[in-house]
Amino acid sequence: MNISILNESQCQSISDQAKKLVGEMTLVEKIGQMSQVFGHNAKIPNSMREDLRAGKIGSVLNEVDLPTLNEMQRICMEESRLKIPLLIGRDVIHGFKTIFPIPLGQAASWDPDMVEKGAHVAAKEAASKGVNWTFAPMIDISRDPRWGRIAESLGEDPFLCSQLGKAMVKGFQGNDLNHKNSIAACAKHFAGYGAAEAGKDYNTALIPENEMRNVYLRPFQAVADFGVATFMSAFCDLNGVPATGNQWLMKQILRQEWGFDGVVVSDWDSIVEMTVHGFTEDDAGAARAAIQAGIDMEMASQSYRYHLHELLQRGKIDIDQINTMVSRILELKFELGLFENPFVDESEAAIILHPDHLEAAKQAAIKSCVLLKNENNVLPLSLSKTKSIALIGPLADDDYEIMGTWVFDGEAQHSISCKTGLENLLEGEVEVKYEPGLETVRSTDESRFDAAIAIAQSSDAVVMVVGEESFMSGEAHSRAEIDLPGRQAQLINAVASAGKPLILVVMAGRPLTLENVLPATDAVLYAWHPGTMGGPAIADLLFGESSPSGKLPVTFPKKVGQIPIYYAHKNTGRPPQDGGCVNINDAPVRAPQTSLGMTSFHLDAGFRPQFPFGFGLSYGDFRYENIATSHSVINMGDEIQFSADVLNAGAHEAEEVVQLYIRDLVGSVTRPIKELKGFKRIKLKPKCRERVSFILSTDDLAFYDHQSKLVSEPGLYHAWIGGSSDASLWMEFRVNE
Ligand code: NOJ
Repeated sequence: MNISILNESQCQSISDQAKKLVGEMTLVEKIGQMSQVFGHNAKIPNSMREDLRAGKIGSVLNEVDLPTLNEMQRICMEESRLKIPLLIGRDVIHGFKTIFPIPLGQAASWDPDMVEKGAHVAAKEAASKGVNWTFAPMIDISRDPRWGRIAESLGEDPFLCSQLGKAMVKGFQGNDLNHKNSIAACAKHFAGYGAAEAGKDYNTALIPENEMRNVYLRPFQAVADFGVATFMSAFCDLNGVPATGNQWLMKQILRQEWGFDGVVVSDWDSIVEMTVHGFTEDDAGAARAAIQAGIDMEMASQSYRYHLHELLQRGKIDIDQINTMVSRILELKFELGLFENPFVDESEAAIILHPDHLEAAKQAAIKSCVLLKNENNVLPLSLSKTKSIALIGPLADDDYEIMGTWVFDGEAQHSISCKTGLENLLEGEVEVKYEPGLETVRSTDESRFDAAIAIAQSSDAVVMVVGEESFMSGEAHSRAEIDLPGRQAQLINAVASAGKPLILVVMAGRPLTLENVLPATDAVLYAWHPGTMGGPAIADLLFGESSPSGKLPVTFPKKVGQIPIYYAHKNTGRPPQDGGCVNINDAPVRAPQTSLGMTSFHLDAGFRPQFPFGFGLSYGDFRYENIATSHSVINMGDEIQFSADVLNAGAHEAEEVVQLYIRDLVGSVTRPIKELKGFKRIKLKPKCRERVSFILSTDDLAFYDHQSKLVSEPGLYHAWIGGSSDASLWMEFRVNE
């Protein structure tokens, strides 16, 4: 399936028009199209006006003042020689004014329709402000929660990331780029950026080609096939060659193997940074390397502007390369309909924060929250039996941090904190006593702990809202320790001494290590940074107006030392087993070297994560039974169906994400111990059951072998259906030649 934006004859006509225009352009104008410059906060300096008139700018980013953008487009359309409109780029990562959960939170919904809707709302709002290109989705596979940008990602799994990445592209681009609510999407960061060593942003990525193809490139290939309009090159050095100058990546994979003919933009300064990496000698060398790799447009830095003329004169690059690149940029402008009308009606901005958008953001937040723990069904709280709750924690009444990282346009004044959300829901019926306990998540002043304990003691239940500030995740904001910052753990443990049911709501941009606070809690609701409508969503979940249904899109480690930790790991020659790993504290003094279990585990952490990929509870009680396959043996090229009964044995109606995992037992390249191959969201009333099935073909079992060929191999496979990657209901099947 793909979003076929244009039919063949429309494509031909656009390509002809673009080529014709290229034929009329001077070199200065061509290089102008390849240059993206930043805006100046609702101002157009005279030098920029001159450049726009002279056709020296192809795109502007980070300007969202509509009259200013309309004026820039007017200069291009009325005062420049060839009347070429501008691409207007903006990071609309998880909403424009109506902020949705951070992408990692959205990924926890495992709901492509919801993700598509969120991107559509974002596109509509951004387009109404003159934006026609966003730099999303970010589909970097992320397996290191220290990395701040994990917040912007769709998690650790190539299949989930591909499905949700496509949904985002569909939401942004719609079925027709030339629609006033559509904006061009951008698959970023191509590629390998998520594997930054030590989770430190911008760091080197060393990824074997086989792993690149089987894991990191999969989502990019999926969205390229699906019709994403643009790609962005990554900042990182990938296996010794910066991605922005990496011809294997940009030419061989993207253009030749995948046939991608859309625009590739560099990341901010990533062209000139190739010199800092030590890959090129100077800006001219960097510009040349980027051209040779096929980077059509330069973001922010200006090495194209200042060096392409000379590089052409010296025969270091070819005019045909430039013509092809300019042509791609112009084609995108034609597809977006900008030549016909690049202006936006200033009255259209009224759709921003529309009630439908806020409702969509609330539903997204509801589906994104993951219930990690619920001892004795302490949740949902009962509206009739609860007389009062103590609301404690530095994030309980925060309308800014709730929005999360990468929010350029959202404003705190529009978001609703947990406190307000709860007060609105509980109006009069349940008393809400509030005490932050700590001024910020980083505070070390414990002087308010007593007040927090006091309101806990005098309430029926305690809701604590803790976590990370927005700035603690996102670009350049990695952490070496991923515990709750400041004295939040101490606050939780102090409040627990009140002996009341303690419900922890965590807002964070990444998986945190929660080992030190889990024992003090009765329930944990992981809300990520849930966005503008986070407060009402959390209130509804806590009081059972809705059931949690999110599932983890990324594995939660117990300790930082377990990182990288992900479910789809290889088996090793010595896989660990429950009961087979001795804990460091249980080992006898002078334990003989080979006495503690000779398998792959940590003496001080075992081998299991805190919470596995795909995990998440609900107010239902889902049981899996009666797994079956349509065939126990299939031939290459055949399809096979897997099915299982899912029963809601609980007392509440709830949604469940049913997951299918496969293991290929023997491969010419060793295969992961489980791989997600399908998921479905279902809703079941209490005591109801549904038979859920999945169909795979042998193509769905394919992986890249050592010759970089995509192959499905005969042999024995296992299949699991369950509610997480820890699913235990399984059976086997065989694929014959
Ligand atoms: C740098 C970031 O890496 C990228 O994701 C973003 O789109 C650009 N800056 C533009 O702001």
